Amino acid sequence: MTSRLRIAVCLSDNRPDPWVQGLRAALPEAEVEAWVPGSDMAFDHAVVWAPPQRLLDEQPGLRGLFNIGAGVDALLRLKLPPQTRIVRLDDAGMSVQMAEYVCHALIRHFREFDAYEADTRAGRWSYRIPRKRRDFPVGVMGLGVLGERVARAVAQFDFPVNGWSRSAKAVDGLRCFAGTEAFDDFLGASRVLVNLLPLTAETRGILNRETLSKLNGGRPGGYLINVARGPHLVEDDLVPLLDSGRLDGATLDVFQVEPLPPGHAFWRHPKITVTPHGSARTERDESIAQIAGKIRALEKGEPIAGVVDLERGY
Ligand code: NAP
Ligand code: GLV
Repeated sequence: MTSRLRIAVCLSDNRPDPWVQGLRAALPEAEVEAWVPGSDMAFDHAVVWAPPQRLLDEQPGLRGLFNIGAGVDALLRLKLPPQTRIVRLDDAGMSVQMAEYVCHALIRHFREFDAYEADTRAGRWSYRIPRKRRDFPVGVMGLGVLGERVARAVAQFDFPVNGWSRSAKAVDGLRCFAGTEAFDDFLGASRVLVNLLPLTAETRGILNRETLSKLNGGRPGGYLINVARGPHLVEDDLVPLLDSGRLDGATLDVFQVEPLPPGHAFWRHPKITVTPHGSARTERDESIAQIAGKIRALEKGEPIAGVVDLERGY
């Protein structure tokens, strides 16, 4: 008799029960349990978010580590058994959320809605001269699952859009730049910068005084939207750039330390909008269906999308 497939659920900041129930329904052929440290049950796969090293140490036979998000930086810090593959979520409802978040932040800034809001509060009828889209080219860092969707959505509003990726790409409606050698040209050609890179050794700290000063051809007036990971931004560099007028503002969804600590300068800065790492949330039902499909495919020896390249780091 062949033994049943065993799947563990280990979510650092989420209740495991709805995931356990959902996976049981989607994979009735498998045994699905919330992982408990010290468990004597050996699992084949684990569905995880930021799990502790102890899970890997106690489960050396794991074949798949299924992340319930797109970014896998927290998993790449772990020491993995040699056969364990990390599998990311492919979209699963996130790209449309990211597109609406970024378009909202961009248009709020471009159309000066904060100023209209202040006028409303003051009972002031104050006409503003419309700004021109051609003066607000948008640069999207990362043209992957999320970045490409965001770039296309922004282009739908007729903003000029630049995209930057590691490998060369051709995307309709976008001016594409690739590699470190093209980075300065990309920054100089962009005024609003949207970060959708994975966090890797190459991209940590990539948003800093030097790079952000290159926006908009080196002139003042840049704007930052960081929706990828907090450590992409050198946080101490941002406030001086805003206070000196080099940057006009920033919308930040991710931070070095989350939750953003009380008293952090970003909370009260008038040019910064803070949201609590929610620009694209994991949709549980879609994610469970996707993970179940991938586990079945893996068990049949079929190839699956979203297997992380450990060398590249995403
Ligand atoms: P992805 O599909 O892996 O795409 C990554 C993109 O970044 C690719 O275009 C890649 O270039 C490019 N890239 C990687 N390293 C680079 C480098 N050194 N220089 C230039 N380009 C580089 O990732 P995704 O699914 O779009 O997600 C991006 C990130 O968003 C995730 O890693 C995660 O951190 C973040 N995220 C945040 C939230 C939130 O709620 N705030 C939600 C989901 C995801 P190539 O195309 O050439 O490989
Ligand atoms: C969220 O931040 C994700 O990586 O999915």
